[in-house]
Amino acid sequence: CGIVGYVGERPAQQVVIEGLRRLEYRGYDSAGIAIVASDAGDDGAAFGENAVQKRAGKLANLEKALAATPLPPATTGIGHTRWATHGQPNDANAHPHLGERGRVALVHNGIIENFAELRDRLEADGHVLRSETDTEVAAHLLELEVEAGHDLTTAMQRVCRRLEGAFTLVAADARDGSRVVAARRNSPLVVGLGEGESFLGSDVAAFIEFTREALELGQDQVVTITRDGAEITTFDGTPAQGRRYHVDWDLSAAEKDGHDWFMRKEIFEQPRAVADSLLGRRGVDGRLQLDEMRLSDQELRDITKIIIIACGTSFYAGMVAKYAIEHWCRIPVEVELASEFRYRDPILDYSTLVVAISQSGETADTLQAIRHARTQRSKVLAICNTNGSTIPRESDAVIYTHAGPEIGVASTKGFLTQLVACYLLALYLAQVKGTRFGDEIDQVLGQLEAMPEQIEKVLALAPDVYALAREHVQSRSVLFLGRHAGYPVALEGALKLKELAYLHAEGFAAGELKHGPIALVEEGLPVLCVVPPRGRDQLHDKMLSGIQEVRARGARTLCLAEEGDEQVAPYADELIRLPRVPVLLQPLVAVVPLQLFACELATALGYDVDQPRNLAKSVTVE
Ligand code: G6P
Repeated sequence: CGIVGYVGERPAQQVVIEGLRRLEYRGYDSAGIAIVASDAGDDGAAFGENAVQKRAGKLANLEKALAATPLPPATTGIGHTRWATHGQPNDANAHPHLGERGRVALVHNGIIENFAELRDRLEADGHVLRSETDTEVAAHLLELEVEAGHDLTTAMQRVCRRLEGAFTLVAADARDGSRVVAARRNSPLVVGLGEGESFLGSDVAAFIEFTREALELGQDQVVTITRDGAEITTFDGTPAQGRRYHVDWDLSAAEKDGHDWFMRKEIFEQPRAVADSLLGRRGVDGRLQLDEMRLSDQELRDITKIIIIACGTSFYAGMVAKYAIEHWCRIPVEVELASEFRYRDPILDYSTLVVAISQSGETADTLQAIRHARTQRSKVLAICNTNGSTIPRESDAVIYTHAGPEIGVASTKGFLTQLVACYLLALYLAQVKGTRFGDEIDQVLGQLEAMPEQIEKVLALAPDVYALAREHVQSRSVLFLGRHAGYPVALEGALKLKELAYLHAEGFAAGELKHGPIALVEEGLPVLCVVPPRGRDQLHDKMLSGIQEVRARGARTLCLAEEGDEQVAPYADELIRLPRVPVLLQPLVAVVPLQLFACELATALGYDVDQPRNLAKSVTVE
């Protein structure tokens, strides 16, 4: 979900809606706003119908409602864009939720785990709850505290002490427009500090249009924003400090720049993003350096096993990392979905390095997994794109990717920069452990630095890929085959198609095909094949056998193969040429046509590419 809060001098409706627009990628099942009208404050004031508006569906529905019935003038407000967990995404379940008397309005991200018990108690006391959400319970509790005479800040502290689960709460009191109060536990929230105004947001995108000064909060903290700034306390009221930082994201990064979709724009930004992620990695002595590594060489040398944990697209970046790390560093690597890792009693100790990959830095499954790892005394290194987010803050070391803000829900440049970070980590470990010589590391770094140019070459093929995609609007199923580092690429290609075009798409390891999945092949089935570069082992030739096997059974083979690979031509119904790059680095170029394919196919089908159904960019619930 996306959350916004504002206290200042500007029209609150405009600031909140603008913030929600920039956070909409976090969830778009419903949206809502509450403002504290400037003339409020008299005894008995409550959020009347004219101060709260909420609508099921995308933000556009809320905006339509507001255009028809504008809210009264106000300079204090809160807003929410929802990814539904409890209850259907209808108007009643949309946030904000109000207390019994309508005096307190509350928006919430996360899950209140003990809500059923709290609700039963409230109902026994005669409260009438109007929605099926866990949030409304907290709104009622908060209002009870305020009605008992506490200010909103104290009320929030008192309520948070009674809540279990993960939550960000942002509340306003209809009788007190001078403040908005928020709390966080295991769910994202940042503060924006302007001149005579303050902001709250799930991430800085909510307010970078107005201020670049941000304040990072810790766990289990309550923050009160006023026109004069922010005050932080713990849940028991002890004053606390936040970390101030400057946001250097370019605002234009949050615009589409003439593209129809953020995703398409982000695909085309990949050469830049990869180059930025490589900047400053060579030290004066020519050795590879990683700024926020924070783990000593000795600590890294003591590592005997690496476990990579991640979700979704980031998980596939982790699979590529395994090939690179094992090959260059000779350290055993396991790659595991964060949600599986956390609850299976994994074997970890101080000599295990856990690498958590997360674009957003807020994915709850990944966060819980790293917390578990740290309780087992393992060191945790985060690969993350979001400064100030929770996962890097709770890790021992970080490699930041420099993709800039990724708005399209389906990850693209986030993925490529994660791959770069994984390669850098692998090379760094090889350097520290001495499993590779300096000139070899230098050579691979040089190959990585050449990648932006190679990715440009692939992007130049976009018109051909688009044409191919449009030929497939009738397809109901598409298979993806890959081997070695091309296997995760196949999985990612299939995921993109599922996410965007709602198609049945499956990625398989080409060698495994004959052990079952080949039964799926029938006349005309499109099979996208990621052909490894020639030259190493028998990888390339084995892949060709796989392609022949599906083609012999009627599949239509769409092959991605490097320039000059003539052996593949006879078995390819369609051929997309990739630049010649080393096997391990091929994912950086091979995934790009698959991103373009999915984006164009979904566009041709008339779907919303940036906000696919049922998904959210950052899933902050387990
Ligand atoms: C969500 C997104 C995916 C993303 C995954 C992991 O499910 O829809 O695109 O890959 O989360 O996100 P993270 O921010 O942890 O990389």
